[in-house]
Amino acid sequence: QAIYLKDYKKPSFAIREVNLTFELFEEYTIVTNVMKFLKLDNVQELRLHAEELELLEVFLDDVALDQESYTIDEESLSVKNVAESFTLKIVNKIYPHKNTELEGLYKSGDIFCTQCEPEGFRRITPYLDRPDVMSVFTTTVIADKEKYPILLSNGNKHQCHENFDGRHGVTWHDPHPKPSYLFALVAGDLGSVSDEFTTMSGNKVALNIYVDKGNESKCSHAMRSLKEAMRWDEETYGREYDLDIYNIVAVDSFNMGAMENKGLNIFNSAYVLANTDTATDANFMGIESVIAHEYFHNWTGNRITCRDWFQLTLKEGLTVFRDQSFSADMNSREVQRIEDVKGLRERQFVEDASPTRHPIQPKSYISMNNFYTSTVYEKGAEVIRMMHTLLGEEKYRAAMDLYFNTFDGEAVTTGDFVWAMEQAGGIDLKQFQLWYHQSGTPRLIVDEKFENGVYTLMLTQKILDDVDGSKQAPMYYPLKMALINQDGALALEKMLIVSKEKESFSFDGFAFKPVLSINRDFSAPIIIEQQESDYAFLMKYDTNSFTQYEATQNFAIETLESMMQGSKIDEAFVEAYGYLLDLDIDLSYKALLLELPSISTLMQRQEVIDCQIIYSAHEDLAKHLADVFQEKLLQIYKENHNPDSDAIDAKSIAQRAIKNRVLKLLSASETKEIALIAKEQYDNSITMTDRVTALDVLEHTDEPLAEEAFKDFYNKYKDNTLVMNKYFGLLSSSLRDDILHRVKTLQNDEVYDDKVPNLVRSLVGTFARNHKHFHAKDGEGYKFVADKIVEIDKINPQMASGLCSTFKIYDKMNKENQKLMKRELMRVISTQGLSKNSFEIIDKILKEQ
Ligand code: ARG
Ligand code: ZN
Repeated sequence: QAIYLKDYKKPSFAIREVNLTFELFEEYTIVTNVMKFLKLDNVQELRLHAEELELLEVFLDDVALDQESYTIDEESLSVKNVAESFTLKIVNKIYPHKNTELEGLYKSGDIFCTQCEPEGFRRITPYLDRPDVMSVFTTTVIADKEKYPILLSNGNKHQCHENFDGRHGVTWHDPHPKPSYLFALVAGDLGSVSDEFTTMSGNKVALNIYVDKGNESKCSHAMRSLKEAMRWDEETYGREYDLDIYNIVAVDSFNMGAMENKGLNIFNSAYVLANTDTATDANFMGIESVIAHEYFHNWTGNRITCRDWFQLTLKEGLTVFRDQSFSADMNSREVQRIEDVKGLRERQFVEDASPTRHPIQPKSYISMNNFYTSTVYEKGAEVIRMMHTLLGEEKYRAAMDLYFNTFDGEAVTTGDFVWAMEQAGGIDLKQFQLWYHQSGTPRLIVDEKFENGVYTLMLTQKILDDVDGSKQAPMYYPLKMALINQDGALALEKMLIVSKEKESFSFDGFAFKPVLSINRDFSAPIIIEQQESDYAFLMKYDTNSFTQYEATQNFAIETLESMMQGSKIDEAFVEAYGYLLDLDIDLSYKALLLELPSISTLMQRQEVIDCQIIYSAHEDLAKHLADVFQEKLLQIYKENHNPDSDAIDAKSIAQRAIKNRVLKLLSASETKEIALIAKEQYDNSITMTDRVTALDVLEHTDEPLAEEAFKDFYNKYKDNTLVMNKYFGLLSSSLRDDILHRVKTLQNDEVYDDKVPNLVRSLVGTFARNHKHFHAKDGEGYKFVADKIVEIDKINPQMASGLCSTFKIYDKMNKENQKLMKRELMRVISTQGLSKNSFEIIDKILKEQ
């Protein structure tokens, strides 16, 4: 059942060109698929991938084949005795309106759309559905003209057909050979917004964003982001767009964020539509980065693609690194880096410490869909970033040029990418490549010695075993560090290379022991284990924004952990927090500094997880800070509260960030005064950012006021699903006692629908990340999520396996919770007809014990 990287074999056939015709009807679709094959090695049989297809006719070089000449099974169509080159024509029937998996051709509301990556094309028509088979696609889409005036596919528009009673057709031609996973088709009655971009060599590109009618006014941010991304890729990587048209379509039912289909990106509408009334500042940032991400794939993914799915990080890690760099250039570099690391730690570190951990290049999979993980994406991006750091900007750019020039039009491996880095960088990355093959977050134990003016840094790598118990080797990475003199002056700054299990570095000429600032900029995605450090000092004097942030976090973690062991609140931390409040620095950075470590951060550090202890320490500390600094916090709130502004420039966003941060902190003291301020903010502010924070604060401070505000919110936005996602998310992340009951009731709300992934994620997914209630000691949280997994698995396995992953901390939980979790996991895995997606995840979780 499992597929292994080591079993890779080159394809036996090439497809020189493919001609597709789609006849779309309400109840079914007829696909006519004409492929020109070329035999590449000595085989007699052609085996095409085919899943859930109804075959109507097969013609080999224009001769209809009888039933004996081909065989079909669950996953393939085989044709015997084929020649050196031949044309195969296949006509088959599919049922898009019944496709709830949202893979292949399906309907999102009234819109026909596709998702083919990684293996959805085989659910449309028989094909060599693997990324190393690249072909030139010509696609004709035919449908009812009134219901589906817009007919789209990849490439450039070739021809329009106006014929047959009320039906029409459009032929699209994509001159760039591509793998089938980049195929796309859209048909619908859509509104659109258009613009134009002139590339650096003077080509005019038509840009179109297609959305449900009525949403046209919510596309301007996406359009602006697209143009910025196109310009940025020209300036930063010298990469230009290569078709006459760039189309983006937003649909409501989509399993992931978006898809980079050649010339026809399909997006989850959450990453396109925005205005300040309905989208938060975080949503605006998210749109900018996903639009850019998909655009950047045109070179890193489409022009140069993956040889096989084990190479996924080749395009995803690299493209995430590119979109992170873009966002850093567009916004605040320091804030972007901290946000990226926060995301990595919340998602990837947790995964890397769980039974589902895997290298960024996995060795095997059962369902490829399970490997679109934060490890492949975000840790993958860190691996590219380390190469960027090792080479430096200039050599990195030369290496990228070499990569593009050498492999354009090919399907390659991560080894090919590293080759380009080594060539142009003039360095040996042999040991570095372990990052592609080893799993788990590397740990580095840091010790210091100071003798006779010599400061010595002693490093020990702690390398964990792989999931299968096999030993792993020491890693190679850049470690940026600095030493700061007691008076706060920077004494030295260096990039060390760590490569051995144990090594030390000495620096002399110090009158007093300097203070260490380590892993600056988070130069390597590792966990530092340091006996002690002067966090208060670093908070004041560190010149690196990342490690300054890190010092505040570590100080808070240390404080919270000693509280969890029964100690009183460390007043030194409280004093340091007060120092931060007075700092005159960029407000969005300040908002990050003032944030207390998340529950999940503290959970990850526990040997045996017990969330309730964490929550109570967290609440106590927040309450204490809110009480001690009430006046100052209120002052910061007032200084930055501009209810009449909905501007989304950096300064306005930063002001909302700091204001909402202090409001949230103030709410820990649960005074009526704070609830009233939040209600006032809810009633009078004109941005979604302000409303969402106000609702969250009300929910946790004042029940009647919360109820009133939530009711108002519901009535205003019940027709806007994107906003309703926020409504469900706010409620299912609530810490109030009756929340499970409310979540269960919300399933019956007319807006909620198990078939729409965004809604499942915001109601059920958010609940499963609500540690307080998911891990409740009566086991009801687990039971509810397990029930939903079983239900949703029948509709959409990819959604279900995402929910299964919320159980991945099973082996770290305390005995009591473990027993409850196990009962539910056993129940799910023994469900009749469980998908391979869900099976793969739960099987791994249960095996760990
Ligand atoms: N390639 C897409 C992106 O990174 C994600 C597609 C994920 N699809 C899936 N079926 N898991 O933007
Ligand atoms: Zn991607």
